[in-house]
Amino acid sequence: MNAWVSAPATIQNVGSGEIFTPAQIKHFRHNLLAWYEAHARDLPWRRMRDPYAIWVSEIMLQQTRVNAVLDHYARFMARFPTVQKLAEAEEPEVLAIWSGLGYYRRARMMHRAARVISNELKGHLPRTAAGLRRLPGIGAYTSAAIASIAFGDPVAVVDGNVERVVLRVRPRNSGIQAVAQVLLDPMRPGDFNQAMMELGATVCLPRNPLCLHCPVQKLCNTRGEHPVAPRKESVRKRVGHALVRRGERVLLEQRAQDASLMAGMWELPQLDGTLPGPERLLFTISHSITVTNYSVDIFRLRADEVHLLPEGGRRKWISVDDLAEIPLTGLARKVLKRLQVFKPPVSGGPLQR
Ligand code: ADE
Repeated sequence: MNAWVSAPATIQNVGSGEIFTPAQIKHFRHNLLAWYEAHARDLPWRRMRDPYAIWVSEIMLQQTRVNAVLDHYARFMARFPTVQKLAEAEEPEVLAIWSGLGYYRRARMMHRAARVISNELKGHLPRTAAGLRRLPGIGAYTSAAIASIAFGDPVAVVDGNVERVVLRVRPRNSGIQAVAQVLLDPMRPGDFNQAMMELGATVCLPRNPLCLHCPVQKLCNTRGEHPVAPRKESVRKRVGHALVRRGERVLLEQRAQDASLMAGMWELPQLDGTLPGPERLLFTISHSITVTNYSVDIFRLRADEVHLLPEGGRRKWISVDDLAEIPLTGLARKVLKRLQVFKPPVSGGPLQR
């Protein structure tokens, strides 16, 4: 019998009549926060209280793992250290700095929100989750994360990781948001929310949870045996792109403004079914976008062979020195980096507070 069931049933009424005792809640908060203090990863946005910096980190962390975010975060903050600087920038530059993180809509919405904050809110982010939610690109989860971490607003974050933790500890049939809210420590909402996210990301894993390391194992209903939703089937596709160089310039093609993915961004010209001969193949690389795994063949064409390219989007010769300023797709960046044509600007240096 687990601690939820064996404890005397009274007190906190959650949603559909399920019950936590104050002792259970206290135990949960105490153990989780103690674990977090001992194990929290030292992340740049955790070293500061700047709401803008926390906002940037939370937008980047949507659908993206911490390790994949770190370099981009440093580069972004070095280039746009304040909401004002972001608001003043032109969109292509924002996308260029975002390049490689994917889900570019996040960058566009954040840029739009920065302009609202700068023009209508005197440069200050709203201090509550409800206020933040009115801004472009900030939904329930992100608003709760920013408001709790930056301003101490006691609102529970429920992202995919937190949802899994809650599903495993909640009494059956109680609502996930309601349970998360009851568990939340109102004295330390920012730390508590980050601890929940961290627990889900590093211990309470979907397939093989590390229950022996779990600070709230005593209160878990499942000890890792909870069935998890099957992974989405991935799809395989093969595509070809051309590398065409003219001296220090490379030919790029712009994706359609109404494309469903990476609209308006620049990539190596796409090849259709009629591919150049295998002697032109430079290499093949793998690239994943959401659930699609692409095998990408990169062919070299000479500058006098551009007429062999299929009809495509707008094309431009771009100097290799200017590549860092162009919103490249993640794939284009990867290919150009591998060919050592593109060297991203050095990130890092002291972060602005
Ligand atoms: N995922 C999204 N935001 C996070 C945060 N602040 N800490 C840990 N994981 C996160």
